[in-house]
Amino acid sequence: MISPQTIDLVQSSWAKVVPIAPQAAALFYNNLFTRDPSLQPLFKGDMAQQGAKLMQMIGAAVGKLGDLGTLVPVLQSLGQRHGSYGVQDAHYATVGAALLDTLSQGLGEAFTAEVRQAWSDVYGVMADVMKKAAQ
Ligand code: HEM
Repeated sequence: MISPQTIDLVQSSWAKVVPIAPQAAALFYNNLFTRDPSLQPLFKGDMAQQGAKLMQMIGAAVGKLGDLGTLVPVLQSLGQRHGSYGVQDAHYATVGAALLDTLSQGLGEAFTAEVRQAWSDVYGVMADVMKKAAQ
C-alpha cells in the first residue's frame, strides 16, 4: 500500500519534472550508463524516443498511484515485456538508483529527504510488480 502522503509527494514533485522531461530523460540514461555501462547494449532504439516513452510511462504510473487496480495490470504487462528485452531482476535496483540521481539533479532543493523516501517507496512497489510479472 502506498500512503496518501507518499502519493502527494511523488505527484507534486513529478509535476516539476514534466516541463523538463526531455532533459530529465537524457540525464537519466547518462546516470544509468555511468552506474552500469553494460546496460547500454540492451537499448536498441533511438534514445530520445526511448526517453519520451519512459517519461510518459512514469507520468502515467504516477497519475494512477491512487488507483492500483488500474495501474498494476499495466505494470505487469510492462514487466513481462521487460523480460523479453533482456532485463534481469538486479537491473531494477540500478534503474531505481539512476532515477533518484535524476530527480535529485532535476529538482535540486525541492528533492528533500521526504521526497526521496516517497520516490524510493513508489519505485520499489512498481519494480516489485514488474519483476514478479516477468518470472
Ligand atoms: C519502473 C521501471 C520502468 C519503467 C516505467 C520502464 C518503462 C519503459 C517503457 C515505457 C519502455 C518502452 C517499451 C514498452 O513499453 O515495452 C521501456 C523499454 C525498455 N526498458 Fe524499461 N522501464 C522500467 C525499468 C527498466 C529496467 C529496470 C531496465 C533495465 C535496464 C529497463 C530497460 C529497458 C529496455 C532495454 C527497453 C527496450 C529498449 C529498446 O527496445 O531498445 N527498463 N521501458
